[in-house]
Amino acid sequence: MSTLLEVEGLSIAARAGGVTVPLVREVSFRLAAGEAAGLVGESGSGKSMTALALLGLLPRGVTVTAGSVRLDGTDLLAADARTLAGIRGRRIAMVFQDPMAGLNPAIPVGEQVAEVLRRHLGLARGPAARRAVELLGAVGIKEPARRAAEYPHTFSGGMRQRVMIAMAVACEPAVLIADEPTTALDVTVQARILDLLVRMQEELGMALLLVTHDLGVVAGTCHRLAVMYAGCLVEEGEVDAVFDAPRHPYTAALLAAAPENAMRGRPPEAIPGTVPAPGALPSGCPFSPRCAHTRPEVCDGTPVEVQVTGSRRVRCARSRELTLAGVRR
Ligand SMILES: Nc1ncnc2c1ncn2[C@@H]1O[C@H](COP(=O)(O)OP(=O)(O)O)[C@@H](O)[C@H]1O
Ligand SMILES: [Mg+2]
Repeated sequence: MSTLLEVEGLSIAARAGGVTVPLVREVSFRLAAGEAAGLVGESGSGKSMTALALLGLLPRGVTVTAGSVRLDGTDLLAADARTLAGIRGRRIAMVFQDPMAGLNPAIPVGEQVAEVLRRHLGLARGPAARRAVELLGAVGIKEPARRAAEYPHTFSGGMRQRVMIAMAVACEPAVLIADEPTTALDVTVQARILDLLVRMQEELGMALLLVTHDLGVVAGTCHRLAVMYAGCLVEEGEVDAVFDAPRHPYTAALLAAAPENAMRGRPPEAIPGTVPAPGALPSGCPFSPRCAHTRPEVCDGTPVEVQVTGSRRVRCARSRELTLAGVRR
C-alpha cells in the first residue's frame, strides 16, 4: 500500500512564561490510503496534540518544534495558511469528542453540512442543500430532509456525532482523523458510531486515524495501531499481532487493564501510578517508574532507541528478552 500520510520526527512543545515544555517527542508513523489505524494511550499521552498538529490546529501557546507531516507529498507544517485551509476539511478532516463544539447552535444542521460543500467544492446553494440531505441520510439520520432544517439542540449526542461525521466526510477526504469520537456517548451508541465510521471509511476508501484511550475501540475497528505514552510512540504494529503478543510492557499493561478482560474471567489490572506531567519526565524510558519489568541499569539514563522487526516497532530496551502476556481475540 502506498503511503498517504507520513509523519516524521514530530515534536510538539508548550511555551509559557519563557519555559518550553515538550508534549510530544519524535513521533513518526505512516498511514496508507484506505487504511484504519488506531492511536492509543492513557489520557495525557499526547494523542490529541499529535492529531491537532496534523491539521495545523494546535491550541495557542503550543507549537511544532521539529518534524514534518506530509500528505500526498505536501508538507502540511510548511504550508501557508491558505494552502492549509484548502486541504483541511477537503483532503484531511477531523471528528472531535464533543460534537457540540464543532456545530453552530444557531444554524440548522443541514445548512452547516451544505456550507462545507459550498466552501470546499464550490457547490451552489440548491445542490449543496440537496447533497447535505443525502449525507445526513447516509450517516443514519432518519427523515433527513425534515431533520436538516432543525437546530443541533434537537439532536441527541449520538445523532450530533453523526452530523459531525457527515460534515467531515462531505468532501470525501483522503484522511479522516477521529479523536475520541465515541468517548462522550452511551455504550450502546458508541458501537453504532464506530460501525458508521468503519462503513464510511470502507465506502469512501478513506484512511482513518482513530484516536482513543480504549483498546476495545481499536480492536473492532483498526488494522494497525500505535501506542503512545508520555508524548512518545512506544509500540506500533498490526492489531492482531500486538494484542496477541505485545512487546512493550506499557502495551501489555493497557491490555491487562482493559475492562474486556473481566469477560475473559481475568479481573482488569489497573496500571499503578499515573502518566507523568510533561515537565516532569523521568530520564531514560518514561514508563520505567510504572513498569513491572524495569531494570535500573538498562531502563534509566539514555533514551531508548526504537527497535524494528518487520512491521513492528518497539521503544523498550528490554523488549527482546521479555515475553509479555497478550489477549487472544
Ligand atoms: N493548551 C495546552 N497548553 C499546554 N499543555 C497542554 C495543552 N493542552 C494539553 N496540554 C498537555 O499536553 C499533554 C498531552 O495532552 P493531550 O494531547 O490532550 O493528551 P491525550 O489526548 O493523549 O489525552 C498533557 O500533559 C496536557 O496536559
Ligand atoms: Mg485527547
